[in-house]
Order: sequence, then C-alpha cells, then structure tokens
Amino acid sequence: MFRTHTNGELNIQNLNENVTLSGWVQTIRDKGFMIWIDLRDRYGITQLVFDADRSSAELLESANKLGREFVIQIEGKVIERVSKNPKIPTGEIEILVEKLTILNESEVPPFTIEDQTDGGEELRMKYRYLDIRRNPVKDKLIFRHKMAQKIRNYLSEKDFIEVETPVLIKSTPEGARDFVVPSRMNPGQFYALPQSPQTFKQLLMIGGMDRYFQIVKCFRDEDLRADRQPEFTQIDCEMAFVEQEDVLEIFEGMTGTLLKDITGKDFGKFPRMTFDDAMKKYGNDKPDIRFGMEFVEVNELVKGKDFKIFDDAKLIVGINAEGCAEYTRKQIDELIDWVKRPQIGASGMIWIKFQQDGIITSSVNKFYNEEDLAKIVEKFGAKKGDLILLMSGNENKVRTQLSALRMELGNRLGLRNPKDFAPLWVIDFPLLEWDEETERFHAMHHPFTAPKPEDEYLLETEPGKARANAYDLILNGNEIGGGSVRIFDKDLQAKMFQLLGFTQEEAESQFGFLMNAFKYGAPPHAGLALGFDRLVAILDGNEVIRDYIAFPKNNSGRDVMIDAPSKIADEQLEELELKLNLIS
Ligand code: AMO
Repeated sequence: MFRTHTNGELNIQNLNENVTLSGWVQTIRDKGFMIWIDLRDRYGITQLVFDADRSSAELLESANKLGREFVIQIEGKVIERVSKNPKIPTGEIEILVEKLTILNESEVPPFTIEDQTDGGEELRMKYRYLDIRRNPVKDKLIFRHKMAQKIRNYLSEKDFIEVETPVLIKSTPEGARDFVVPSRMNPGQFYALPQSPQTFKQLLMIGGMDRYFQIVKCFRDEDLRADRQPEFTQIDCEMAFVEQEDVLEIFEGMTGTLLKDITGKDFGKFPRMTFDDAMKKYGNDKPDIRFGMEFVEVNELVKGKDFKIFDDAKLIVGINAEGCAEYTRKQIDELIDWVKRPQIGASGMIWIKFQQDGIITSSVNKFYNEEDLAKIVEKFGAKKGDLILLMSGNENKVRTQLSALRMELGNRLGLRNPKDFAPLWVIDFPLLEWDEETERFHAMHHPFTAPKPEDEYLLETEPGKARANAYDLILNGNEIGGGSVRIFDKDLQAKMFQLLGFTQEEAESQFGFLMNAFKYGAPPHAGLALGFDRLVAILDGNEVIRDYIAFPKNNSGRDVMIDAPSKIADEQLEELELKLNLIS
C-alpha cells in the first residue's frame, strides 16, 4: 500500500496514529539537527520531520539525499507541531518519519513548484506537467471537472442523452477555417475536424433522439485571443419539438444553477436584449451590463455649429464617465491616445467636463457655448463631477471604438468585478450579414438558422433586413454561448443556401446529406452550444481560458511541450500521397 492517507487530510484528531504517505518533496528545511519537508500531493501538504534525537542516523542520511520534487513514501507517527500553521488543514500536526523510501528521484525543476512561481509563461507551458502540480493550475482543472459534472447531471435529469459524434468529418460552416486530415485510404481526399457537431446534432433530431447533449472538442483554425483556442470544448445541445423559449429556459436554468452554486444567489430570469438595442446602447452584441455608461447619440445637438469633424460625421455618440470630471489634462490626453492606438483606430475624442463648481467646460469651447454644452450634459443626464466623452465617424466603426473605450473605462474604474455576474440573452440577431469584401451575404450564425417566421417574406425582397430566431448567452461581456431555431424544411434550406451564394451543385455536394435527411420527416428543432472553457473561466473569475485547459496551445497555436505542429516523415507523406501533390 502506497499510502494510508492523502497529504491533505491528517489533523489533530489523528495524533499518535501510524500512517503511510506518498508524494512529492516540495520544500526542504535543513537545520542540521532537524530536517523538515513539505510533502505534496493533489490533496495538500503534510509536514514531515526528521530529528537527530529521535531518528536513526541511517534515516537522517537518506533524508539528506532528498531534493525538490523527489517522489517518496514515508511511514511515521502523527505528532503535534510546536509552531502551528493555521493556513493549511494539516497545519497543527507533522509526521515524525520512521521509514523513508525514495520512489523516484527528480532533476532540479526548471521553476519553483509553489503558488508563487519564478517560471515565466513559456517555460511553464513547456513543462506543463510540472505546472499542473501547482495549486493555481490544479485547482482550475478541478473546478472545470466539477462544472462538467454539474452540467452532465443537470442535462441528464432533463432527459438529455449524451451522444458522441464523429471527429473525422466533412467541413461544417461555423465561419472559421477547418483543420484537415488527409485520408490514406482515399488518396488526395481529406476529412475536416468539426468546428462543431452542428449537422450531426440536427441529424440526431431527425433520428428521433429528442434531446441531445455532448461535452465535445471542436476545432477552429482562427487567430487566437485570450478567449479562443484552436481546439476548445463546447457543451453542445439540440432539442426537438421546441421553440426558442424552451431552449432559453433550459439553458438559463443550467447557467443559473451553476451561478447559484458559486455565489449562493438566485439569478432568476435572465434579462434579454435585442441585437439592435445592444448595438445602439453598447456598440456591441455582447455587452457587459454590470455597469451602465450607455451610449447617448447627440447628432441633433452638435451638428451645424461649424465644427467640421462633427458636421462631416454620420454619428456622434458618447458615454458619461461618472465622477471623472476630476481627470487631469494629462489623464484625458492619455485616454485620447488610448483610443487612437491602431487597435482601436479612432481619429480623436472630444471631452466635456461638468465640474463640481457647476461650470461646464470642454475641448470644443470654440464651437459650443455654455448653452450648447448644457444641452448635451442634460441629454446625458450627467451630474456635477461627470466627464462626457464623445466620438464621431462612420456608424459601425464609431460604435465599436466607443464600445472598446467603455470596456476600458469599466476596467479602470473597477466596475468589472470578476466575482459579480451579469448574464444576458441577446436575441433577434440579423439572419444575414453583408460582406463588403466578397460582396455577398454570410450567415450571421450559421446557414441552418431559421428566419423569424414573420420576417420570412423579406428573404425575397430585402434579405439583409430579415431577423433570425438566433440567440447568444452573454456573461460579463463575454459570449459564452450561441444557438438558434433551425430550418427543418428542405425548400427553405435550399433558399438559404442560394442566398449565401451556393450554387445548387455546391449545396448538394456539401450538404446533400442534410437536405436528403430533411425529406424524411425532420421535426422542428432548435439548439445551442456553450463554450465550456469560457464558461468555466468566467465562473471562476477569469477571462483567460488557457488556464482552464490542461494542455493548451500558445498564441501561435503551438503546443510547446510536445512541439506540435511539426513536420512528418517523408514516408508518411508518401503514404498519404501528399508529397506528390505538394510538388506538382
Ligand atoms: P458558436 O460558433 O457560437 O455556435 O460557438 C458556440 C460557443 O463556443 C465558444 N467558442 C470558442 N471557445 C473557445 N475558443 C474558440 N475558438 C471558440 N469558438 C467558439 C463560444 C461560442 O459562443 N453550432 C453552433 C451552436 C448552435 O447553433 O447550436 C456553434 O458552434 O463561447
């Protein structure tokens, strides 16, 4: 038997018991006559003591050979500590070691394996297995596991069946590039890894499964960000004989259950906002509603006063940074520089201060008199001490820029406490979006999304105006999920492909299997997928999903530990008949 207890469980109740423990040597404190060792495993740390008075010379000698991260087994007696550590559950006791076995030695690790480590990100990624021994990483993986368990239980109780769908498939259009896998048995042909199990879950509905879910890996070849990984996990779901409302209810229930477990609070019904409102009020389809700072449009108040920048602009819109009138010139200039950075790309920003003494001043005093400024201040509902920031330009661009500023101010003003949660449904997305570059429509969600029945007629006349029964679940300004009511009629699906610029042959060759299935009694169905990595990270008060993935990729999509992607052997290429293709 390697152990009678773990390293997190012994306490004063176990005094005088003889125990066997195993684990890693975290720290060694050698005072010559006494050696203390912190023994670590997943469950915690237990202090071991070797004592010149009470331990044999032989035992002390082997203790002297130990180094950090050696794997050892000890037998000994639980004794009371002289100086207790109230910070850990085992802090009142230590083990007087009677027998020590070195199970495995360790080289000196490349960074210290403690909560505060000296290892940089890249080094820790290269030795991720060592990083996982540290509490901050280990705890995140355990948290992820707990969330997965709760989700499985919730959905199973609601009659969802977990079904695995294939990973070697044909391309699914979710808007990113596919990762492809060459087929040896079918030279020159490729599988695509699923961007999501979208078409399969719809086929499962046609197969009568009624309620499906899967906690499933998805693969998307897209540029990486803190909330994106090339392979990530979805909680993927689909339901038959339902409407949008049924889907929202189930997943609001699921997310609410997780939130309640974490915060103890009841979140009740989640607020809902239409896409149009979200864009108008927050310039963003995933607004963080933990704080206000809603957009106020002031075109009619500022145009026609000889201020050319505003006169030429399509939209002049601003936010009220409450209590920020005290900002110095330097602070405001710094904010202006911030919005002018290429990542944001604004050409400038106008400010209006409603000072504590009641005076209103601005960076455009030359064009606007006191009365003009007072009207603007009134429109914002600003109070003494507030700072109004205005941006102008092309409608979509300026909304995006102001939205970035709003989030930045939210962060700077401490309005985005990661332990506060504000879920939100954004609904009524447009069905299609026009892509200027390719001069064609793209599906805003995906091509299987149904238009709102009352907007279906628009497909013939103004398809760009049709709204979809599509919805996103937002948590603290992050899109954690999205879904839609699906098309289940083959003619409507064909029409949709046509709108998206597919010829009949292209639609047939890519999605013939689905169109064919629609001929055999497809039930009305709808579904959604939550980004599990994102959900877990945000629930744990974080926005970087990498920390919640055991073996993540870095920003260039590389796994620096196993060194992937990498070249493959010439023989492998030949076998796949890839080399010939590459040369020709
Ligand atoms: P969608 O493309 O919106 O919908 O994806 C669902 C959710 O998955 C998460 N997500 C990601 N997480 C980490 N890294 C990525 N690269 C990444 N890409 C997406 C997001 C997102 O909201 N088949 C549809 C769902 C449906 O219609 O049922 C789909 O995949 O949190």
